Order: sequence, then C-alpha cells, then structure tokens
Amino acid sequence: MKKIFLLIILLIFIFGCTQQQKNLEKREPITVQIGSPQRQPQIIQQEPPQSPVNKPIVRTVKEFTVEMKQFSFSPSTIVVNNGDKVKLKITAVDVTHGFSLPDFGVETGPVAPGTTVTKEFTADKSGTFKFECSVYCGSGHPEMEGTLIVNMEG
Ligand code: CUA
Repeated sequence: MKKIFLLIILLIFIFGCTQQQKNLEKREPITVQIGSPQRQPQIIQQEPPQSPVNKPIVRTVKEFTVEMKQFSFSPSTIVVNNGDKVKLKITAVDVTHGFSLPDFGVETGPVAPGTTVTKEFTADKSGTFKFECSVYCGSGHPEMEGTLIVNMEG
C-alpha cells in the first residue's frame, strides 16, 4: 500500500511539474506578442520618406539678332521660356536707334548704323513685355515697338 501511495504522490508531483511547464510554454508566446507590436512601428519608421526629386535648373541660352531700321524691329516679336538666358545682338541698319526693354533692365543707348550691341538678361518672369526704340530716329519713332513673350515653363 505504501508503494502505491508513494507512486500516486510521485505521479501527482510529476503531473504538477508538467502542468507548470505547460503554463510556462503558454506564457512564452504571450511575451513575444507583447514584444511584436513594439517592433512594428520601428519597421514603419525605417522606411525612407518619399521626397520629391528636385528638378535641376537648366538655363537655356537663346540668342537673337535684332535689326533696327525706320521704324520697326526685326523680329518684332521675341518668344522665350521663363528661366531662359536671352542674348540679344542688336544692330542698327539705317540710322541711329536704341533698344529699350525696361522690364528686364535692358537699354543699349544709341546704336550707330552698322554697329551691333550685345545685351544679355534672364527671362525670370512670365508675361508679355514691350520693347521700344529709345533714340529719336524720325517721324515714326514713337511707333517703333516690339514684343517680348516669356512663356511659363511647365
Ligand atoms: Cu528707331 Cu527711334
């Protein structure tokens, strides 16, 4: 009887230990589960934020030869894009004229016949701008005008 009794006690002890181990096994995944939600935000933070790719500023030089004669400019309309560097080779053909584009600070002063004055500027604003003859050149001088069109680049 004593042996059987000890055996029962031993079995209860072993069974109790196994139950404790099972309980410990059950707890382990819970610990992992507690840990995993903490890791998830870290993974999200590690993703690099999408930043817009900066377009490199490319300045195109646009060159024009502008002829001045009584009482017009040739060409009378110049078209460029915003951001362009504009180079004007301004020539007087018949008499002395002047080229004035005040919106971009361009002013040649008197340009004698047969000579050329070069002016450069950056078309840094969009719109339609008037240029005109700045030196009296005859009866039609007030009508000697032209147009610069600066298109928005997009
Ligand atoms: Cu041409 Cu004034």
